[in-house]
Amino acid sequence: MTDIALPQREAPDSLMLYGFWYRALPGSQVGGDRLQKAMLLETPLAIGRDKQGRPFALHDACPHRGMPLSHGHFDGQQVECSYHGWRFDGHSGQCQLIPSLTADQKLKIDRIYAGSYPCEEHDDFIWVFIPEPPPPGAGFTKAAEAPFPAPRVPTFSEKYKLAYLTADLPCTVDHGIIGLMDPAHGPFVHQAWWWRRRGSIHEKQKNFEPIPNGFRMSAHTPSSNSAPYKLLRLYADAESITTTIDFVLPNLRLETIRAGEYWFSSLTTVTPITRDQCRIDVVAAWNIFLWVPFGPELLKFVFAKFVEQDRLTMEQQSEGLKHNPHLMLIDDADRPAKWYFGLKAALLESRKTGGEMKNPLAGPVTLKWRS
Ligand code: FES
Ligand SMILES: [Fe+2]
Repeated sequence: MTDIALPQREAPDSLMLYGFWYRALPGSQVGGDRLQKAMLLETPLAIGRDKQGRPFALHDACPHRGMPLSHGHFDGQQVECSYHGWRFDGHSGQCQLIPSLTADQKLKIDRIYAGSYPCEEHDDFIWVFIPEPPPPGAGFTKAAEAPFPAPRVPTFSEKYKLAYLTADLPCTVDHGIIGLMDPAHGPFVHQAWWWRRRGSIHEKQKNFEPIPNGFRMSAHTPSSNSAPYKLLRLYADAESITTTIDFVLPNLRLETIRAGEYWFSSLTTVTPITRDQCRIDVVAAWNIFLWVPFGPELLKFVFAKFVEQDRLTMEQQSEGLKHNPHLMLIDDADRPAKWYFGLKAALLESRKTGGEMKNPLAGPVTLKWRS
């Protein structure tokens, strides 16, 4: 990406990336004899949990006549459609029974599948792998395995705590993601006496480097203008605190803070639900304040405040975006957003040509901005 004096005019497209794992639902919402509805990339899903506790995800439309399977009944192993009682294996989606067939009718029911998707549960969330949509009218066959495992929150000790927060955002996944990586909104959106004031705005310089499918804000000592970091330094009695922030396609933001033996990490995702609606899920793990009774509540409070400020901002922004205004991205503050679009384009190009994916960062880059 070249430096230019004039701001570039750039409008996010709303393209959703297939062929990745996405967070569908908190695991606590799934279980029992009903299937839970979820939507990922405009794909309706019915999610359940078998008797052994293993989750599964089916296309939420019966392959017979389209009745949502989430209206059906689940006995711990098979899902029964509420319309004509066809039964499907929860995990494979393979048809097990068609009650209307007579003994002499030889329909090969084992060739019929309700669409099913690879499904994993990590860090209190159910993840579903959404492959490229099949050609229309092709029907469902046995689901392919996911080519790689679902992402997880990084952890650095045996014992730790875990908490999550989730919020719906009324915008495209692209606006959700670039809002997440945007360093310049902090002093305006995230003001709080215990975090920072608008007056504390100052020049910052951060180093970035390419990583597979993304980029990393290299390990650095976090900004000194926030009280929680000052506290952490005191508490951990650590020489230094280092923070690393990674962005990885399609929608992953990983932040790791380490101070001596203490650590805090989070995996934030912005998940496309439909073309113009997404959801942010923050899952955090830490071993700091393990012994402090109000530790998790405090952290949750801080995060909830941040997420709510972002959500409200995006809700207000969506009013402005309704009428397709021209937008621009400027250097250096919006450079991560440009890289995001560059990564997306590079991925699609490599999928098209079968060639290697070219990271928009050729090597380490230093960005400067005021925040
Ligand atoms: S629509 Fe499901 S069994 Fe007929
Ligand atoms: Fe924010």
